[in-house]
Amino acid sequence: MTTMDPIERDEQARSILRGNDRGSYTVPTAGLYPYQWNWDSAFSAWGIATFDPDRAWTEVETLMSGQWPSGMVPHILFHKPDPGYFPGPEVWGADHGPIPSSGISQPPVAATLIREIHKRDADDKRLRTLFPKLKAWHAWFMNWRSDKGAIFITHPWEPGRDNAPDWDAAMAAIDPVGVGEYARRDTSHVDPSMRPTKEEYDRYVWLVQHGRRLGWDEAAMAKDRPLAVADPTMTFILLRANRDLAHFADVLGEDRTEIDGWIETLEAGAKRLWNAELAAFDAIDLATGEHTGNVSNASFLCWYAGLDEPQMLAHLETTFEACRYPVPSHPVGTPKFDARRYWRGPTWAFMNSMIGRGLAEMGHRTQADRLRLATRDLIGEHGFAEYFDPLTGAPAGGGMFSWTAAVWLAWASPSAEVA
Ligand code: DGY
Repeated sequence: MTTMDPIERDEQARSILRGNDRGSYTVPTAGLYPYQWNWDSAFSAWGIATFDPDRAWTEVETLMSGQWPSGMVPHILFHKPDPGYFPGPEVWGADHGPIPSSGISQPPVAATLIREIHKRDADDKRLRTLFPKLKAWHAWFMNWRSDKGAIFITHPWEPGRDNAPDWDAAMAAIDPVGVGEYARRDTSHVDPSMRPTKEEYDRYVWLVQHGRRLGWDEAAMAKDRPLAVADPTMTFILLRANRDLAHFADVLGEDRTEIDGWIETLEAGAKRLWNAELAAFDAIDLATGEHTGNVSNASFLCWYAGLDEPQMLAHLETTFEACRYPVPSHPVGTPKFDARRYWRGPTWAFMNSMIGRGLAEMGHRTQADRLRLATRDLIGEHGFAEYFDPLTGAPAGGGMFSWTAAVWLAWASPSAEVA
């Protein structure tokens, strides 16, 4: 295990972001993810802003240019065909927007990261163009994914935590009948032991086919939902994003009343995610009304959402003690913990950046610094992987990963300007 000189790591991070740049958007990593992914792209923009703010603005402008008339901003924009990825645009059959895309969205981190770009380059003209688009996107979540303020997911790809144990029960209730034959491409790029299983993939693909059968019409899908799980990722991230959107309304002299109403609704919804038995924020399977019983890394996004909770600090302390490189996506030592399998154990640097920033903002400086330094060690010693084994730091998933590089530059590196 060697620790790279931080200056060299800074240079490498910039070169990864430049290497993954496709002109007006950035891919998460070549091969495994060859298109523009929604939240990956917003994180990339945050990192790019440290050396090229103009290009960072372009990144989020390109992302928002794929917005559907409904306000939804797709989770993947298929700018150029690439046979190396499955499921591509022909499987999604979602042609509602100006750019071929998937039919679902992803956690709306953009407003929060645009605020970071704006801090470096206060271009109010560009912000003013983006503001109504962001607002329409947030309104779409409030209209179609809110259960009294708890934001739910309808596909495990929506929260981006594809195979998290949070959806196990809801996924087990789906019979992927008629899914047919298909060829996965992810396992040709990455060791299958680090990726979701075939049982999970069958259900991912079946849910895509289901949405397609209903023409990706939200009103029709609302009447026929095979999966609905209220999720801390979505709820906390949208709550935070609305706080940043309200700030933009102030900056631009726009009316913030509706956004303030959303914040109130989401604060109430976030409280519903509290699982008293677990003493933690936890997803709820809306089909049964039951909590799912998981303290995931998304549970620790509460501070990022502006919600303080002493019992979550106790859980955080437990994760700090349990592994050298926190925060694991699922608790170390529990039956479903799997150190290298995607969202069932690995540590994700970009999640740490949100948890750490939230901790610092809520005054939990010691924990914030500890997490930032652990993430610095992780990337410093093990490079820019998609995710990492929380016990050993071993890199897992894709390499040369944009959001890991971005998080290094904007938050984890000694050179990062962190408040
Ligand atoms: C994938 O293809 O694995 C992605 O997580 C879907 O967004």
